[in-house]
Amino acid sequence: MPVTTQQKQSSKPYYLPVVMTVAVLLFTACGSDESGAATAVQDSNINNNIGSIYNTSCISCHAGGNAAAPRAHDVAAWQPKLAKGIEVLLANVKSGFGAMPPKGMCYDCDDEQLRALINYMAAPK
Ligand code: HEC
Repeated sequence: MPVTTQQKQSSKPYYLPVVMTVAVLLFTACGSDESGAATAVQDSNINNNIGSIYNTSCISCHAGGNAAAPRAHDVAAWQPKLAKGIEVLLANVKSGFGAMPPKGMCYDCDDEQLRALINYMAAPK
């Protein structure tokens, strides 16, 4: 019908500015939030990274399967360990300690990562 076609055509320029305005508002909102979002992503990457190293290297013994190993997130079990000092613990992990092989089997880990792993396991979940 010619009337319907006319209505459709006349409605086009009415909607277009609304759609454009919404698009611009959405874009502006994302732009102003960008730096905060990037920082949050970076922080969670560091945490995820330590968590994933724990999951691949330390978990097999420290999740509780190996009775001699202090259990991860068992604060009471870690307290006497932490009392030795983080640098002593780091040295013990690097050289191997009791039934624990050198570097807790994370051969790619640097000192900073091993310290973070110790603090991660010593902290409550
Ligand atoms: C093959 C098993 C095993 C793996 C894998 C392992 N550990 Fe251990 N870990 C142990 C055992 C067993 C002990 C307790 C040794 C003892 O007290 O005789 C221990 C103790 C420790 C201690 C305390 C050392 C001290 O001075 O009392 C730290 C710190 C530690 N582990 C960190 C780690 C970290 C970090 C990782 C992963 C990168 C890891 N471990 C992986 C078995 C393991």
